Amino acid sequence: VLAIWHQLTKAEIPELAKCSVLMRERGRVEETIHAMQRAGAGSLQVISDFDMTLTKFAHNGRRVPTTHNILDNRLLISEDCTKKMSELLNTYYPIEIDPSRTAEEKLPLMVEWWTKVHELLIQQRIRKDLLAQAVKESSAMLRDGYKGFFDHLSEQQVPLLIFSAGVGDVLEEVIRQNRVFHPNVRIISNYMDFDQAVHQLQSLHEVTVPLTEHCLVNKGVLRAFRGQLIHTFNKREGALSHAAGLRELQGRPNVLLLGDSLGDLTMADGVSEHENILTIGFLNDQVKERKESYVNSFDIVLVKDETMDVPNAILRFIT
Ligand code: C5P
Ligand code: MG
Repeated sequence: VLAIWHQLTKAEIPELAKCSVLMRERGRVEETIHAMQRAGAGSLQVISDFDMTLTKFAHNGRRVPTTHNILDNRLLISEDCTKKMSELLNTYYPIEIDPSRTAEEKLPLMVEWWTKVHELLIQQRIRKDLLAQAVKESSAMLRDGYKGFFDHLSEQQVPLLIFSAGVGDVLEEVIRQNRVFHPNVRIISNYMDFDQAVHQLQSLHEVTVPLTEHCLVNKGVLRAFRGQLIHTFNKREGALSHAAGLRELQGRPNVLLLGDSLGDLTMADGVSEHENILTIGFLNDQVKERKESYVNSFDIVLVKDETMDVPNAILRFIT
């Protein structure tokens, strides 16, 4: 029976035969895909990371910015802040992806990184009304085939949970500007909290502009981040406290999970009574050093693949 399944999948999902696709247990992957197909779209939910998973890692040899890095724009932050943020990136990103350290070892250092960056951003008093412009001016880019991915899930009414340790407000603007912020999309991320009062106070001195009108123009400045911090290695807690409570995800026991970090594997921990989980990991960086751990941890590993071809082919087969 297994041999027949092998052939079936090869004919029906030829994308899985590409040499950039690695699988620890091809047979089990094929069984899972078939079980998901039998259950259909009504049983499926998709849980995906954002930065470097739905967005590209690199394009034409240049790194694509993460949601945090999109904020690196003179409209929003000073040159000094840019410098400090990039020093922090140079210190902590190598730790984030270091294959020789455990997630437990990385955890406190990630909290340190995110906390320092968020403090810097708050000091900059970032203006909410300039975020959309900063996204427009950035080189943010979703993976090739993103439109098919988002549109298909929306048409099939399959919920898509985007679970990101990035900045939620920026993430939303990226998918809105790409016209894929469909009603089936739910987001768990770090959201900015904007203060309105400061502009109201300033406008008291501008007698020519009525207070209410002025407030409509100035939608506030960043004063904090809301809720509990989400970083790369605490997504499990977010899954248990937030995702588990999302009503539209109930009664969908099959999960397709997409990520680029080993920390992303815990994003489905809030799904109770799951039946089949298929995990796909994008291995973008430090390929040689991390290949073994990725193949041991994800069901399917996509090596330096900047497209959504494989997830799209699987989705088209399942639903
Ligand atoms: O959406 P996702 O969970 O992938 O977002 C987190 C990513 O953002 C991390 O992988 C990290 O490398 C990146 N990051 C960043 N700048 C920061 C903090 C995190 O680029 N200040
Ligand atoms: Mg990521």
